[in-house]
Amino acid sequence: MRKLILLTFVYGSIAFQFPFQFPFLRPKLALNQAVTEDAFVFTTPKVAIIGAGAGGSSSAFWIAKAKERFGVNIEVDVYEREHYVGGRSTVVYPYENTSLPELELGASIFVKANKNLWRASDEFNLTRRSFGAEDYETGIWDGEKILLSFGGSWWDTVKVLWRYGIFSPKKTQTVVGNMIDKFLTLYALDAPRWDNISDLAFALDWSPFILNTTQRYLLKQGVSEKYINEVVEAATRVNYGQNVDEMHALEGACSMAATGAAAIKGGNYQIFEQFLKRSGANVLLNTTVESVFPKSASSHLWTVRSGRGSVDYKAVILAAPYSSTGIAFPLSISSQIPKQPYVHLHVTLLTTTSPTPSPEYFAMSQSSVVPRMMLTTYQGVRNGGKEPQFNSLSYHGLVREGEWAVKIFSKERITDEWLNNIFKGKVGWVFRKEWDAYPKLPPTSSFPPVKLDQGLYYVNAFEPMISYRFISTMETETIASRNVVDLLLNEHFHSSICGTRISERKENLTFKDTGDFVAGWDC
Ligand SMILES: Cc1cc2nc3c(=O)[nH]c(=O)nc-3n(C[C@H](O)[C@H](O)[C@H](O)COP(=O)(O)OP(=O)(O)OC[C@H]3O[C@@H](n4cnc5c(N)ncnc54)[C@H](O)[C@@H]3O)c2cc1C
Ligand SMILES: *[C@@H]1O[C@H](CO)[C@@H](O)[C@H](O)[C@H]1NC(C)=O
Ligand SMILES: *[C@@H]1O[C@H](CO)[C@@H](O)[C@H](O)[C@H]1NC(C)=O
Ligand SMILES: *[C@@H]1O[C@H](CO)[C@@H](O)[C@H](O)[C@H]1NC(C)=O
Ligand SMILES: *[C@@H]1O[C@H](CO)[C@@H](O)[C@H](O)[C@H]1NC(C)=O
Ligand SMILES: *[C@@H]1O[C@H](CO)[C@@H](O)[C@H](O)[C@H]1NC(C)=O
Ligand SMILES: *[C@@H]1O[C@H](CO)[C@@H](O)[C@H](O)[C@H]1NC(C)=O
Repeated sequence: MRKLILLTFVYGSIAFQFPFQFPFLRPKLALNQAVTEDAFVFTTPKVAIIGAGAGGSSSAFWIAKAKERFGVNIEVDVYEREHYVGGRSTVVYPYENTSLPELELGASIFVKANKNLWRASDEFNLTRRSFGAEDYETGIWDGEKILLSFGGSWWDTVKVLWRYGIFSPKKTQTVVGNMIDKFLTLYALDAPRWDNISDLAFALDWSPFILNTTQRYLLKQGVSEKYINEVVEAATRVNYGQNVDEMHALEGACSMAATGAAAIKGGNYQIFEQFLKRSGANVLLNTTVESVFPKSASSHLWTVRSGRGSVDYKAVILAAPYSSTGIAFPLSISSQIPKQPYVHLHVTLLTTTSPTPSPEYFAMSQSSVVPRMMLTTYQGVRNGGKEPQFNSLSYHGLVREGEWAVKIFSKERITDEWLNNIFKGKVGWVFRKEWDAYPKLPPTSSFPPVKLDQGLYYVNAFEPMISYRFISTMETETIASRNVVDLLLNEHFHSSICGTRISERKENLTFKDTGDFVAGWDC
């Protein structure tokens, strides 16, 4: 019963606030409303979006969809601190030479179940390429020895792993499959809307996942401890820089399905660039937002102050992790956002003419071929051994004949000396970047509010729930933004991305894939 009430809360509150506004979708009405409510005379209402990553760029895109479909009149400004679009999705070129193949410095992959990204890449004529590293031999390193290594694709290999038997991989796959099915509900015609993420998790039956660590959850499902602590942990460490006993099971499960991983040729950021281009929004690069405060107690407007001065907006969408922005908000707002630690990740990109890492480092004989995709587990430490010095070390194809690109994720800085040791002195170009990559995700039931105040929305409230891989976070940011834009359009413009759907009430969710239909695109 709780489920039903919670899901209708959003609709309920609209009906309560604007009982006289049915039917929705009257752009003229929205303007009249603005005039009487805000004494906001004859100007186009403005919305500010802070951040031009996946979340911010897709927010602009969704607003543009409503403008295109219903003629809603809104002017959008997108503020971006950096000089580029894409945020944590960005590329660099070996030797800064743009004739060489680009390397993703942040978000690298997504899959077909990520319907917004998939659809966007189709509609925007971007070329998807499959993720190359899967062709490499994969090893799992515990800091002192290689526990096992295998070739071929991840799942094909896992299936035949005698080390773990067949039950554990299969069971894990079932768990992941169930979770994905529920996730796909978010693309249905009657996809839920939410302003409380705990409620969404409840409605999707995700509570058992987010309330338990990956390790505890899978153990209860009968998956063997060895499999969890070695294989699942290898995946959680490469994907989230966290161990199975540190992170909740929704994340853990997400990291376990990586078949059919894809990336955009030339860089994933192009999707976000296209979102903005097609949205017609004003994109203000190199522009840091410093503060967001109500214009006055009665105006219902927000004043956004940046290096370019102060501008008033009817609504503001925050599409960056709050803690990373440095933006001053009224205490009533900042106090609602729980402190969210992020995994501080060192990404080291390099090129090498060494075809594999050094066997000596991995305690292998001179003549052995070291796997080019080295994952790690914390299991060595649990057994009193040494911690691996990196989370993952993987070759990423040739940058030119005889020279490979390599990507290393680690908790600490990787020194030149260390690189020379591993790659036998054959290191070419090196590029280092530190990211606050993804939220730390212990089991939790508390999430920040999606709506921080009247006219103030927070896309990244969703980030602590799911991060990337099977459910890519680039993707979840586009879903979170769809939800936020729908709330905003409802509350301030009496419209939505898809129109009448807003007044429908959903009794029970059915968990099924709706095929090619993608909510927001196809309405
Ligand atoms: C190394 C790494 C690997 C990853 N791998 C994957 C992967 O394979 N697949 C996947 O889906 N995801 C992956 N992710 C996660 C993914 O990158 C993020 O979840 C996603 O890009 C977040 O998008 P966002 O728009 O929410 O935030 P961001 O991309 O962080 O965008 C926020 C933007 O806001 C801007 N900003 C912040 N403060 C201000 C301010 N005060 N004023 C103006 N602008 C401001 C920032 O400059 C930034 O551009 C990875 C992340 C990292 C770091
Ligand atoms: C932003 O700043 C960078 C240098 O920091 C500069 O190269 C770039 O041209 C600027 N871009 C814009 C749009 O102002
Ligand atoms: C960049 O790479 C291309 C392709 O390998 C090469 O032909 C060119 O000389 C390089 N440019 C520079 C400036 O090194
Ligand atoms: C995409 O490419 C096709 C074929 O090359 C072309 O017909 C179509 O107009 C392009 N669409 C866009 C949106 O650029
Ligand atoms: C998950 O956690 C909840 C609350 O701690 C507990 O009741 C439940 O049994 C756990 N489920 C699993 C599968 O571990
Ligand atoms: C979300 O709902 C839960 C339970 O329904 C409640 O405990 C929590 O405070 C709500 N969170 C927010 C941010 O409103
Ligand atoms: C919703 O689900 C409940 C319990 O599963 C069921 O009793 C009820 O009939 C369902 N309602 C609808 C409209 O399907």
